[in-house]
Amino acid sequence: MNGLISVKGVHRRYRRGGFFKVADSLHVLRGVDMEIREGEAVGLVGRSGCGKSTLGRIVLGLERPDEGTVLYDGQDIFSGEEKSFREFRRNVQVVFQNVQGSVNPRMTAGEIVAEPLRNFLGLSKKEAVERARPLLEQVGLKNSDADKIPGHFSGGELQRVCIARALAPEPKAIVFDEAVSSLDMLVQARVLDLIRKIRDERGLACLFISHDLRVVAGLCDEVALMVDGVIAATERSVAALAASGHPAIKRLLESIPPAHPRQTAVNRMEKRQEQEPDSVAVCRG
Ligand SMILES: Nc1ncnc2c1ncn2[C@@H]1O[C@H](COP(=O)(O)OP(=O)(O)OP(=O)(O)O)[C@@H](O)[C@H]1O
Ligand SMILES: [Mg+2]
Repeated sequence: MNGLISVKGVHRRYRRGGFFKVADSLHVLRGVDMEIREGEAVGLVGRSGCGKSTLGRIVLGLERPDEGTVLYDGQDIFSGEEKSFREFRRNVQVVFQNVQGSVNPRMTAGEIVAEPLRNFLGLSKKEAVERARPLLEQVGLKNSDADKIPGHFSGGELQRVCIARALAPEPKAIVFDEAVSSLDMLVQARVLDLIRKIRDERGLACLFISHDLRVVAGLCDEVALMVDGVIAATERSVAALAASGHPAIKRLLESIPPAHPRQTAVNRMEKRQEQEPDSVAVCRG
């Protein structure tokens, strides 16, 4: 598999302070290296505030790093060349957690999914909406759902609309930032099944960002653990990360509420690991 997205030595600082305080800066990313190969799913896990979404925004080209580079297909995405940046934006799409905030409430689902088709492929509105209908069916919605507005969908259905929008320009990669975190467990499991199916069918590369280990387990070919703005460990599975005994992974495991009140997440992962050394399935209970 070839390297599709390469993050090299990325640092990001945010200015803090205001009128009454001396301005200083918060050093969020402290030299991040990451490689996402064609068709590969990389999970990025870590505690809240460690810098996952900041890295996600930089990988998407939405924010510039203060130091370091992001290469897409060997090209620096921040080199300033507009044509290649546009090509990159088409090829690397995103699905965020806040679905309500990432769609225009006055547009129909068909228009929402049609937007990237109009932007990147230059289709007319009518043509683009017609192309959006089969995409909505691919994500498990009905053709007629194209005429509904966001307020008439459930959270899980609206997340499917956002996934269809991300798929519309036929990208090579999708960044999922906490994409299922606001859904209840059952809906979460269904959307994860959909993502797995789409990945297999399309050979998409994914960066799957989550603070919840259960979400990335069973979905990713590689899992990177971020601690205070650096990648502290990378393993082939959540089970392998758990086995590494890294203190940060222990804390993350302990933060998972047990499905059975008398069983801890660590117990469950360990038990599962004994049975299936290479994977820890997503817990649905
Ligand atoms: N635009 C910004 N301006 C200032 N500080 C920011 C900005 N974006 C993020 N931060 C800070 O950077 C740190 C990392 O934030 P980030 O959103 O990347 O964390 P995260 O790992 O995604 O957390 P979570 O799991 O809660 O989503 C936090 O302390 C946050 O407050
Ligand atoms: Mg985040």
